[in-house]
Amino acid sequence: MHHRSTVLMILLVGLIGFLVLQNQNVFSQARQSRAERFRHSGVIWDEDRSAGSDPRSDATEAPTGFDNLTNGFIEQGPPYETLNADNVVARRSFNDNRFIFEEFETIQDGLGPTYNAQSCRECHQNVVTGGASQVAELRSGRLENGQFFESLGGTLIQSRATHPDLVERVIPEDAIRTFRISTNTLGNGFVEAIANSTLLAIRDKQPAEMRGSAVIVPVLEANGTSRIGRFGWKSQHASLESFSADAYLNEMGITSPLFPEENTSSGRYVGFGSGYDPVADPEDDGEDVWHSLTLCVPPRHRRADRFQMTCLPVKRYSIKLAARFAIHLRSRPRSPGQK
Ligand code: HEC
Repeated sequence: MHHRSTVLMILLVGLIGFLVLQNQNVFSQARQSRAERFRHSGVIWDEDRSAGSDPRSDATEAPTGFDNLTNGFIEQGPPYETLNADNVVARRSFNDNRFIFEEFETIQDGLGPTYNAQSCRECHQNVVTGGASQVAELRSGRLENGQFFESLGGTLIQSRATHPDLVERVIPEDAIRTFRISTNTLGNGFVEAIANSTLLAIRDKQPAEMRGSAVIVPVLEANGTSRIGRFGWKSQHASLESFSADAYLNEMGITSPLFPEENTSSGRYVGFGSGYDPVADPEDDGEDVWHSLTLCVPPRHRRADRFQMTCLPVKRYSIKLAARFAIHLRSRPRSPGQK
């Protein structure tokens, strides 16, 4: 009797050990496949615009305004006030997409377990939905022997969680900390449309001392096709669909086909099956990402106003922003005395 229970005990310990190892293996595979997704496919396409007509001869001004009107890429759609969670249709119209961008997400929709806000609009709203805002996000990590390590749950600290145990905190050892402010998304559909070759040409014309680097990134919805990044503080995405799916995961904890794995809470698995997350992944079908493609450009301002409005110190102007405004500035009438 005694002998038999010892054997059982050994078997049990063995089984637990096996499961733990198996589990670690699964995690490392998941991590690997995640890293794999962010590898771009190699050479970027030129996307040379001369393939079409000469851009200068048929260029028209992009529509501008803080007015919640479509940029023309998609129809305006049913009156905004008539839309609700039951009748809204993703991608049907500007107003539908705006409704989705403004919608408050709940745990049942996939919110969390860790997240930063319940709606895209919480951070992108000034003067209208899609604008920049004062909301900043915390990133952290540490240096060890000159090498940078991310915080346990990645550099982005999700400041909120659906359960008190899961709220991420920065440990004292992670001494590298920085805030990144919410960027503007108005007019970004036009930025997405800029050809790689145009960005390179703008860079090459810049004086050597201020020349930025063109960051090559994968377009996730196009099987990792390479493109020059242009969205986010590090130009980390080249398409709004990729960025928006990224934001659904990293700002709201909502997984989708492009980002199917839930974030950890400081390295701890808290996704579906852990008891903290009732919704299986992917939590969203990935159809909710279209608003930023359809927004008008912010109206022109005198230069001083523009800097005030976007809160960007002039020094931070990178190739990305230079490119973003280059088209803008080239055709802008100069008033006397203006540099
Ligand atoms: C908690 C605040 C916050 C929320 C909520 C949020 N964002 Fe953002 N968004 C940011 C910040 C901060 C950046 C810049 C990120 C960076 O580069 O580090 C950004 C950048 C972007 C950009 C790139 C704009 C550019 O040109 O650089 C897009 C597109 C975007 N967000 C879409 C969305 C969508 C769609 C949602 C909703 C799913 C969303 N965001 C929710 C804070 C937020």
